[in-house]
Amino acid sequence: MQYNESGIGVIEVICGPMYAGKTEELIRRTKRMEYAKKNFLIFKPNIDNRYATDFVVSHNKKSMEAINIDINHPEQIIAYVTEEIQSIVIDEVQFFDERLLEIVKHFADKGMRVICAGLDMDFKGEPFGLIPNLLAMAESVTKLTAICNCCGEEATRTQRLVDGRPAYDDDPIVLVGATESYEARCRKCHQVLHHHE
Ligand code: ADP
Ligand code: TMP
Ligand code: MG
Ligand code: ZN
Repeated sequence: MQYNESGIGVIEVICGPMYAGKTEELIRRTKRMEYAKKNFLIFKPNIDNRYATDFVVSHNKKSMEAINIDINHPEQIIAYVTEEIQSIVIDEVQFFDERLLEIVKHFADKGMRVICAGLDMDFKGEPFGLIPNLLAMAESVTKLTAICNCCGEEATRTQRLVDGRPAYDDDPIVLVGATESYEARCRKCHQVLHHHE
């Protein structure tokens, strides 16, 4: 049941913009657990159907099998976590209902290693869903950067494009997609359009 000898659980968060390597890093940490013969489960939201439904898949096609969870019912995770599970790994955490926080805390309190990856900001550059609270609760936060598609500097933001133009600030927050709708951008090159301007 316990992640380490002392039984102290931990919450690790991997965040950043799209294309920063969050899913790759999640896979890297999980593969290392596989080598260490730890028992883990990977979860992902059911709305992320970009590359595959039953796998977490990175933009450069690295993948691992994952269990789909309804974003409005994060408590579905609980039924999968049996006594021998030492770690739970969740990708795209930004999409889940706030109640995921209690579940993450519950398993960390029980001595498990909980690894969460997700976007820190939405396309407007604002904190995404439950992420602020999750970052505050975590023992470890890794912020990754991508490369700005415009200037080649470090990208900390995600640019949403609609027909090649920056999206408006009243666009819906959730829009599953990849290169057809999103680019990585630095603070200087990132743009959001406002209707009142
Ligand atoms: P995330 O989950 O953070 O969106 P992934 O782990 O799925 O990222 O994919 C990261 C990979 O995306 C990189 O290793 C690289 O191959 C690719 N990639 C595509 N566009 C970019 C970019 N603008 N900057 C950095 N990596 C990029
Ligand atoms: P990624 O971080 O693994 O690349 O995936 C991010 C997912 O989040 C992708 O499906 C696009 C989606 N997304 C939104 O729904 N709203 C947003 O504002 C942004 C930036 C991304
Ligand atoms: Mg990802
Ligand atoms: Zn730039």
